[in-house]
Amino acid sequence: MTLPQRVSIVEVGPRDGLQNEKEILPAAVKIALIDRLSDAGLSTIEATSFVSPKWVPQMADAADVMAGIRQKAGVSYPVLVPNEKGMEAALAAGVQEIAVFAAASESFSQKNINCTIDESIARFIPVMETARKNNIRVRGYVSCVAGCPYEGAINPARVADVAARLHDMGCYEISLGDTIGVGTPNKILAVLDAVTKRIAVSALALHCHDTYGQALANIYAGLQAGVSVFDSSVGGLGGCPYAKGASGNVATEDVVYMMNGLGVETGADLEKIVETAWFIAEKLNRKPASKVAVALRPSS
Ligand code: HMG
Ligand code: MG
Repeated sequence: MTLPQRVSIVEVGPRDGLQNEKEILPAAVKIALIDRLSDAGLSTIEATSFVSPKWVPQMADAADVMAGIRQKAGVSYPVLVPNEKGMEAALAAGVQEIAVFAAASESFSQKNINCTIDESIARFIPVMETARKNNIRVRGYVSCVAGCPYEGAINPARVADVAARLHDMGCYEISLGDTIGVGTPNKILAVLDAVTKRIAVSALALHCHDTYGQALANIYAGLQAGVSVFDSSVGGLGGCPYAKGASGNVATEDVVYMMNGLGVETGADLEKIVETAWFIAEKLNRKPASKVAVALRPSS
C-alpha cells in the first residue's frame, strides 16, 4: 500500500510529558522547551492544560506559559480544557485551539475528570459553544482505546461511540489515545476499523504511549490504514497522572526517524528535536527515554 507523502505530528511533550513529572519545572523552562520545539519545525505543540491545579499542580502555570512563549506564525499551540472554567481561563490567555478529553472507559473517566462519560460530554457542550463563538478550533481525545488501567480490555465499539459523539459535537479531529500503551497493531487496527465506520480516517489521529515498546509498530499500522496525524512527545516524556503504569508517549524523534526512513515528510528537523530531547532531559536530571535520542546524542 502507498504511504502518504506527508504526515502531521502533534507534539504533546510540554503537556502530556510535564503533567506527569514529580518535579514541577519553572514556567521559564517550559517556555524554552516550547520555543525550541517550534524552532525544530513542529507546527502543532500542545502547550499546557487549563485544568484544576488541585488535580494537576504541574500545569498550574498555564497562563504564564501561554504568555511567555514566542508564538510563531503558522504554529498552533492547543491547550487541554476540561470544563467551562478552563475555557474561560484559556480564552483570557488568548488561545486559538483547545482540546477536550473524554474516555472510552467509565472508571478512567471517574479517576481522571471525576465524572461519567455522559457527564463529560454534557460538560463539553457549553465549552464547544464558547469555542464556536470565539472561532476556536477544538480537538477531541478519547482515552483508553486499547485498554484501561482499571477495566482491562475495551470494546472498540465503545471507542467508536465516544469518538463519534465528540466528532458530532464539533471536534475537527479525534485523537485516539492508547493511554497505557497496551495496544498492539492488531488491536489498533480493530479500533480504527470500528471508528472509521463512524468518522473519516482523515479526521483521526493516533496518540500512542510507549509503555510496552509497541508505539512505533502501532503507528506504522495506523499509517498503513490511512491515519496521517500522530501525537508524540519529545524525549518520550509523558504519562497520565490518573492512569497507573502509564509511561511516556512515543518519542517525537523516534517517529521522525521512522518517517524519514519511509520517505514520509514531517517538516521536523531531527537534529534539533534530539537536541531538545537532551535539553529537557537534563532539566529533569535524566537521559531521554528514546533510543534515537541516545544514538544521535549531540557531541557537546
Ligand atoms: P472536580 O474536583 O470534580 O471539580 O474536578 P470541581 O468543579 O469541584 O473543582 C474542584 C476545584 O478545582 C475547585 O476549586 C475549582 O474551582 C477548581 P476550589 O473551589 O476547591 O478552590 N477548578 C479549576 N481550576 C482551574 N481550572 C479549571 C478548574 N476546574 C475546576 N479548569 C476537574 C473536575 C475536571 C476540574 C478535574 O478532575 C481535573 O482538572 N482533571 C484533569 C485531569 C487531567 O488533567 N488529566 C490529564 C490529562 S488527560 C490525559 O493525559 C490523557 C491524554 O493524554 C490522552 C491519552 O493518553 O489517553 C489526553
Ligand atoms: Mg496521553
